[in-house]
Amino acid sequence: MAALVKTVVVTGATGAQGGGVVDALLSAGSKSIRGITRSSSSKKAKDLAAKGVEVVEADLGNQASLSKAFAGADALFLVTDFFGAGASFEGELQQGKTAVDAAKEAGVGFVIFSALEGIPADVKEKLPALPDGRTVAHFESKNAVAEYLAQSGLSYALLRPCNFYENMINFTFYQPQADGSYAFSDNMGTAPHAWHSVSTIGLTAAAILEDPKKYKGKSVPALGEHISLTDMAKIVSDVTGKTVKYQPVSDEIFASLPIPGAQNLANMNSYYKQWSYYDNLRPLSQRLVAGPTFKEWAEANAAALKAKLE
Ligand SMILES: NC(=O)c1ccc[n+]([C@@H]2O[C@H](COP(=O)([O-])OP(=O)(O)OC[C@H]3O[C@@H](n4cnc5c(N)ncnc54)[C@H](OP(=O)(O)O)[C@@H]3O)[C@@H](O)[C@H]2O)c1
Repeated sequence: MAALVKTVVVTGATGAQGGGVVDALLSAGSKSIRGITRSSSSKKAKDLAAKGVEVVEADLGNQASLSKAFAGADALFLVTDFFGAGASFEGELQQGKTAVDAAKEAGVGFVIFSALEGIPADVKEKLPALPDGRTVAHFESKNAVAEYLAQSGLSYALLRPCNFYENMINFTFYQPQADGSYAFSDNMGTAPHAWHSVSTIGLTAAAILEDPKKYKGKSVPALGEHISLTDMAKIVSDVTGKTVKYQPVSDEIFASLPIPGAQNLANMNSYYKQWSYYDNLRPLSQRLVAGPTFKEWAEANAAALKAKLE
């Protein structure tokens, strides 16, 4: 860790991204990590404290609590929570603005914001509009936070994650089939897309903090590998000993599923599928760290994957 980056404050420290950052910083030998949570009495917060993290209560909806929590920090890893913020553009933008204003007030030296790219106008035109007129709301809100950060005068870098391998445990519904196999579906299609483990987000953030000046104002992708869901299903089959298949469905079918924000997610998947977005814009040569491949990650997480199939 660069000599000037001593204390790093991490939002979402009890979650996937922030947790990945905390673990990477601990592995890099960082001695002063402050993890933000709304409840220091939760199990995840207690686990963080047991690892040597200073756990501080603050809320992304409360600037005063954040300014206090950010005080004296040399760097901030900021992740906002679209779904926790009411799954709305305005909700996530407000979280981001509040945190950026608090970082400015507290005099934080460097901010890494976990962003996502904006949706180009020609792509927007081809996807159904959401009720608020957006297309992929959680991309657009993060892009708006990134613009607000760029105008703030703070030194910053944007870290751009893509699909998390962990979604295969946390969000994938494996449907048992009559022949004893399992199937999962979405509308991302069978082409390879960009994926990584949340540990790669952490390793990428830690690499940026090795030399923040080098990445000032830049956008840094996190990337493990480009892989198709068909190939991921084969790997899940190999590590669990069960037969798992990916069955792509149409945009319309996915958007009609009874899951929160189905149209927003259908638009995101369709965006990947139709514009090969990440294949074009996220070459492996641009990543700072390799992180695990999906196969390596699946082997390390075989027990959790297997538990999804019982
Ligand atoms: N899944 C993917 O493939 C993917 C890919 C790219 C980007 N993303 C983005 O990742 C973000 C979510 O990150 P994640 O998956 O790391 O989160 P997560 O595992 O769902 O955990 C949410 C974290 O946010 C914290 N949090 C929520 N509301 C808060 C508030 N009002 N004040 C302070 N902290 C709050 C929670 O802390 P406490 O509960 O302890 O307070 C927790 O640490 C979303 O915005 C999503 O769009 C996801």
